[in-house]
Amino acid sequence: MRALVTGASSSPGYKTVLELASKGFQVLAIYNTHSVSFPQENVKALRLDLTRFEDVLKIFNEFRPEILIHMAALGDVDKCEIDRDAAWLLNVEVSRFLAKISQKYRVLMLYLSTDYVFDGERGMYKETDVPYPVNYYGLTKLIAEEIVRSMLDSYIIVRTSAIYGLGPGRPNFGKVLIEKLSRGEKVRALVDQYLSPTLNTMLAKAIVEIIERGLQNDVLHIAGERINRYDFAIKLAEKFGFDRSKIEPIYMKDIAWKARRPRDSSLDVSRARNMLSIEFYSIDKSLDMLRKEYYESAR
Ligand SMILES: NC(=O)c1ccc[n+]([C@@H]2O[C@H](COP(=O)([O-])OP(=O)(O)OC[C@H]3O[C@@H](n4cnc5c(N)ncnc54)[C@H](OP(=O)(O)O)[C@@H]3O)[C@@H](O)[C@H]2O)c1
Repeated sequence: MRALVTGASSSPGYKTVLELASKGFQVLAIYNTHSVSFPQENVKALRLDLTRFEDVLKIFNEFRPEILIHMAALGDVDKCEIDRDAAWLLNVEVSRFLAKISQKYRVLMLYLSTDYVFDGERGMYKETDVPYPVNYYGLTKLIAEEIVRSMLDSYIIVRTSAIYGLGPGRPNFGKVLIEKLSRGEKVRALVDQYLSPTLNTMLAKAIVEIIERGLQNDVLHIAGERINRYDFAIKLAEKFGFDRSKIEPIYMKDIAWKARRPRDSSLDVSRARNMLSIEFYSIDKSLDMLRKEYYESAR
């Protein structure tokens, strides 16, 4: 099967390409400003600016994907708040164009969305809970969800939370913790922000299973266990044998963010857990996997 993956230079995109490749898919991996390469014969990496719709259409016509996994986005929450035009163009208009051509060519579109569609006042959100974003990033992602849902006969929306792990992409919490704590540097971690940190490799396995099983026209929450950032940092430090006294607890009120953050955007994954056969890792298991990957990559 031919799968086109956007955002292949992001943390979830890169791992999803690897997982698809290992399952024998022919993959076209799209990046833009951060070049990525894949040694696998069944993967081709291609630079493509998704805001250039004519070029996108040309690539679609040439590659003729059967599946589109759309992960490219302006994912920096504060940047989205400051540069709303850029956020709208990438998160909404690009998604709209991809939805339009996916519908035209009868391509299944999997759209990667976020826990930030919720306001975070309650936590442990189910797929049936009503979204209410508190920042512009969450709003653009929610609008894109609605576009995908309304324009396509075949789609899947996957919502996830606080993706972490090794590989390319913007610095993520897990990677930053490893880098700083391994050098004996101090890190600050929030005590009062709860999420469901999700290991990129587990998310990739879930996404590929969803595709292989042919699940359609649904929203699924795929994420790790609920925890606050400070406790997560402590667990990571313990797992890697780093000095936990370097982790300083801080509070959301101490940070001058441009965009408001949900207080508790953790996701209830019980529905997806019942539907899929992949293992939903505990935090402990996720950190074991991350540690293994880290030491293997350092060899
Ligand atoms: N980070 C999280 O914790 C989190 C949580 C939930 C959901 N998500 C979702 O996961 C996905 C990846 O997010 P991320 O936070 O990992 O973001 P990221 O590291 O900023 O990655 C964004 C991706 O979009 C690509 N991209 C941006 N503009 C593009 C353009 N004009 N044309 C083609 N590609 C373009 C980037 O390519 P280049 O870098 O090569 O330019 C990169 O691969 C997003 O859909 C995001 O909403 C993230």
